Amino acid sequence: AVGAEEFVPSRAGLPGLRKAAHDCRGCPLYQDATDTVFGEGPSDASVVLVGEQPGDREDREGHPFVGPAGRLLDRALEEAGIDREAVYITNAVKHFKWKPAPRGKRRIHQTPSRTEVVACRPWLLAELDVIEPEVVVVLGATAAKSVMGPSFTLTKHRGERLEPPEGIAGQAIVPTVHPSAVLRAPDRDEAYEAFVTDLRAVAAKGH
Ligand code: URA
Ligand code: SF4
Repeated sequence: AVGAEEFVPSRAGLPGLRKAAHDCRGCPLYQDATDTVFGEGPSDASVVLVGEQPGDREDREGHPFVGPAGRLLDRALEEAGIDREAVYITNAVKHFKWKPAPRGKRRIHQTPSRTEVVACRPWLLAELDVIEPEVVVVLGATAAKSVMGPSFTLTKHRGERLEPPEGIAGQAIVPTVHPSAVLRAPDRDEAYEAFVTDLRAVAAKGH
């Protein structure tokens, strides 16, 4: 397994990419996940949201952001005046990485390694090539580093509108926190308001 590159069909649209991604063996993560969870949304979306990787619920249901983090994201998007149906939502890594809980059947989320993020990046680049969005919103450090490079620090740049690096099809990058980080924050209300504020900046200038 040396990355997704060889599995990504050239000149494919989103349906072709999605279909091919189900057979990806670009890194070991396909082995323990139910199936690839590919991005979803219109190919003419002006905003693309990039998360980390599918969670437990997403892995079972096959759709991005349908679990607890997704519910928070839905609420925040609505409050920021962004129509979820009009945005394309995807993840930096397309398979759920997990380990079994010490007791019981729970599957515990594990952060994907840099190697896995790099392995999966060709899928994200291909999605962005098709969509060519006005804004790519990166949710959390994993997505931010996939798009902006490994030395990027989210805390210094959240809510800013950044120039996309070479090879990223999109007019601007806006980094913000991951909705799961909002759920875990000691002051959840404050973290939520800051998240909505970042998203409002996208809505104001992104359409
Ligand atoms: N967290 C993510 O980063 N992506 C999902 O799809 C769900 C939870
Ligand atoms: Fe391929 Fe990405 Fe899944 Fe790894 S995580 S097997 S690179 S789709």
